[in-house]
Amino acid sequence: MPSQAHHRTRPAPRAGPAVHHAAILPSMHRRPSRLPALDKRKDLALGRYPAIAALIGVMFSAVPGSAKAAAVQNLRCEYADNPVGIDSTQPRLSWMIQSQRRGERQTGYQILVASTPGLLSAGHGDLWNSGRVASDRSTQVVYSGQPLHSRERSYWKVRVWDRAGRPTAYSAPASWEMGLLKPRDWTASWISAPPTSGAMGPSPYLRKSFSLGRPIRRARIYVSALGLYELRLNGQRVGREVFAPGWTDYHHRVDYQVYDVTRMLKPGANAIGMILGDGWDAGYVASFGRNLYGKYPMAICQLEVEYTDGSRTVIGTDKSWKTANGPILQSDMLMGETYDARKELTGWDRPGFDDHGWNPVVAQTPEIELDAPRGPPVRVERLMPARSITEPKPGAYVFDIGQNMVGWARLKVKGPRGEKVTLRFAEMLNPDGTIYTANLRSARATDEYVLKGGATETYEPHFTYHGFRYVEVTGYPGRPRLSAITGVVVHSDIPFSSSFDCSNAMVDRLQQNILWGQRGNFMSVPTDCPQRDERLGWMGDAEIFAGTAAFNADVSGFYTQWLGDVRDTQAADGAYPDVAPRVGPIGAGTAGWGDAGVIVPWTVYLTYGDTRVIRENYSAMARWIEYCRQHSGGLLRPATGYGDWLAIGADTPKDVLSTAFFAYSDHLLARMAGAIGRTADAAKYNDLFHQIRAAFDRAYVGPDGRIKGDTQTDDALALEFDLLPAKQRATVAGRLVEDIRKRGWRLSTGFIGVGHLLPALTNSGNTSVAYRLLEQTQFPSWGYSINQGATTIWERWDGWTKEHGFQTPAMNSFNHYSLGSVGQWMYETVAGIAPDPAAPGYRHFFIRPEPGGGLTSARGAYESPYGRIESAWRLKDGRILMDVMIPPNSTATVTIPCPQPSAITESDKPARNANGVHFILNDDQSSVFEVGSGHYRFSAPAAKHP
Ligand code: BGC
Repeated sequence: MPSQAHHRTRPAPRAGPAVHHAAILPSMHRRPSRLPALDKRKDLALGRYPAIAALIGVMFSAVPGSAKAAAVQNLRCEYADNPVGIDSTQPRLSWMIQSQRRGERQTGYQILVASTPGLLSAGHGDLWNSGRVASDRSTQVVYSGQPLHSRERSYWKVRVWDRAGRPTAYSAPASWEMGLLKPRDWTASWISAPPTSGAMGPSPYLRKSFSLGRPIRRARIYVSALGLYELRLNGQRVGREVFAPGWTDYHHRVDYQVYDVTRMLKPGANAIGMILGDGWDAGYVASFGRNLYGKYPMAICQLEVEYTDGSRTVIGTDKSWKTANGPILQSDMLMGETYDARKELTGWDRPGFDDHGWNPVVAQTPEIELDAPRGPPVRVERLMPARSITEPKPGAYVFDIGQNMVGWARLKVKGPRGEKVTLRFAEMLNPDGTIYTANLRSARATDEYVLKGGATETYEPHFTYHGFRYVEVTGYPGRPRLSAITGVVVHSDIPFSSSFDCSNAMVDRLQQNILWGQRGNFMSVPTDCPQRDERLGWMGDAEIFAGTAAFNADVSGFYTQWLGDVRDTQAADGAYPDVAPRVGPIGAGTAGWGDAGVIVPWTVYLTYGDTRVIRENYSAMARWIEYCRQHSGGLLRPATGYGDWLAIGADTPKDVLSTAFFAYSDHLLARMAGAIGRTADAAKYNDLFHQIRAAFDRAYVGPDGRIKGDTQTDDALALEFDLLPAKQRATVAGRLVEDIRKRGWRLSTGFIGVGHLLPALTNSGNTSVAYRLLEQTQFPSWGYSINQGATTIWERWDGWTKEHGFQTPAMNSFNHYSLGSVGQWMYETVAGIAPDPAAPGYRHFFIRPEPGGGLTSARGAYESPYGRIESAWRLKDGRILMDVMIPPNSTATVTIPCPQPSAITESDKPARNANGVHFILNDDQSSVFEVGSGHYRFSAPAAKHP
């Protein structure tokens, strides 16, 4: 993020006389821009120049209306659609306004919340009637009605008043439902199969038959496991969740899920069943062996049935449940699954099944808090048909999915009973066409299926996942057809609703690789990689990728959830862990890693305008800053940690890197303190920031602008984290460009520096150099890996090369999203969609594409909390054509790369006079306009860029 020291929340718009816009900021208008991009970005943030903010308040009053009325839609509660089972007693509500009108904005809202759909449709908000609230707020609106109780379902709708003060119709109804808020709501007991030694063994099946006496009005299952569960009711799977209840720090808490099963039950005989897997709790995690938390899986399940006559019954896990082993002989996240279909327990999840041979379960009493999830579950997202088959060794068929993906394979097979088909998974092939598995290290990643014989059998594993492009099939009866293997893509169900593309096919492939990296590593927690015996919530990878992740998908819930693990695993002395959930001997207190505990909340705040995330993490963040302060000498942090991981022959001194991150996190905390009204803290942290900066400059920055170590990462961090005296910025930017030039326009940054490199160039007026790095195809570069065939982001630029083959198998993941952190710059600078820290959550934002390199067009679409933002440009016949979409109730500053405002048109009219378009200023490179919602088509003479 560009560093701006003095942002405040946006001043409330106020009415006032029209002003001569260019006169507002005379000094900006005339300033010779040595660092034009930087200056503009800083100066145009709302709140720095209240005049701009005030202008926005008045400018749309002049926009003529059209007949079509606005409407309200996309009602969400706690970042989810109609959530069932939330813990928050003050849930946050949001909605979007649908309107084609330019400059549409909300001037008021009214929320009705009712305890029944009938009351709601009658317009009676018995739980809450907000009345008309004069407000432009349409996100993060906190429910303030009657207290909410366990299990309570609330129905709500909202109407808004548009910019002309006209009310819309009420929205369609939406709902949310509370989970179990108090420990005593849980009457079921934890149970397990009879305890085992903790070695890998069969997945236990658990079941119970029960009878329901009357017609059913409503039924819910509240369920969790230490380990993983698959829940079945009357022969059907309940829910679409995979790897439920998800990974949390099981030393502290585990999530539970809530399912509406009203329609799955019937009066009379019913049966409920669960299959338990070892998962993260009892199975292998990274290279630390098994049983990091528990020895064997256990579960708790509470089915609550309400009859139409109002009476209730609860069927909970207790000693009356029975257990047996079934076809899953073993199932482990890293090792894979062995399934013997001959051992299937046909009908075990239906009533009438004879379970007298089954064993009684054992009651368990784990001390663990049960929480409702804050983020989306893992689900199957798509299927990937295999593209080709080869047979590099007799009987070993290698299926190519054509894409490095994460999940598992669906096997289709027909053959004799007892035949065993073995599936092994790999990201790459050896030169002889066999699969390359050395980089998986100890992750066996092998699924085995024993046929029961007869008709075609379809098999998918239950509690394991693999990172792969190739599936090797051995033991297949006969020659498999292409349809024998299908890739099943699995990840945390974040909506990937944004898009980026441009005229350079390599850059488009890069964007796709970044997306596949995010898909494969958003697996309940953000992981470093999905294939080898690691797959951990590495904080450094998370912090550098968070900004990109937040462009590609809605990550609000996902990160909110994971931040719980980050807090849970913070050490007593305030050190954030290097991985969250924390496991094994992995440490804490590492610069660039621990800082995720501050950077990720900042990202959620900036992207969604979420101040609750600040409050929830505030004391943890404050303790982290205090930890850094105490573990420093003269505010310089020690030279420890992982450094700029995987840098290319340019080692950034660890003390420099650590001190830079100390300053950055502290600075972000200062802004977040301000955002929640903790002004004294904001001043305190700002003051500390200036002290760290002074110490940094004294210790590390020479008079010639040379920073100790003299690396690109040094320069990028110093520029991006605002660590330099103003007079040194241009010098350091110059040194950075010179270093890149000397390396043949190539980068040398590692994980940590790479995400800041292109932004540092752009923010110092060197976007053309950033494009050279983006379009580079020599090592090291994104294009280099792509030219070697990468379909994901690799851990190393040269994980495999045509010339040298594989890098060391000890650390060579072909699906590691960290180097994909360039995606944020692609959205912000190539497509040109950037959030405004002074009006977070895209209340106000920037449209400022900077065409460059060999690109002739680019397009970004981003699903913001207000609706879809689009920014597309193309160069045609010496002109730049910009297509811009701004969602209702938000505003944007549009920077057009043309210094003469009079030469710019919007929808074929002079832009300065166009409906809803307000000229702000121009300089020697561009013209700046302020717009409200709507679709705009700008056209301007194209600048020549180097
Ligand atoms: C992981 C990285 C991680 C690093 C810490 C590696 O093994 O794969 O992504 O950040 O360790 O230096």
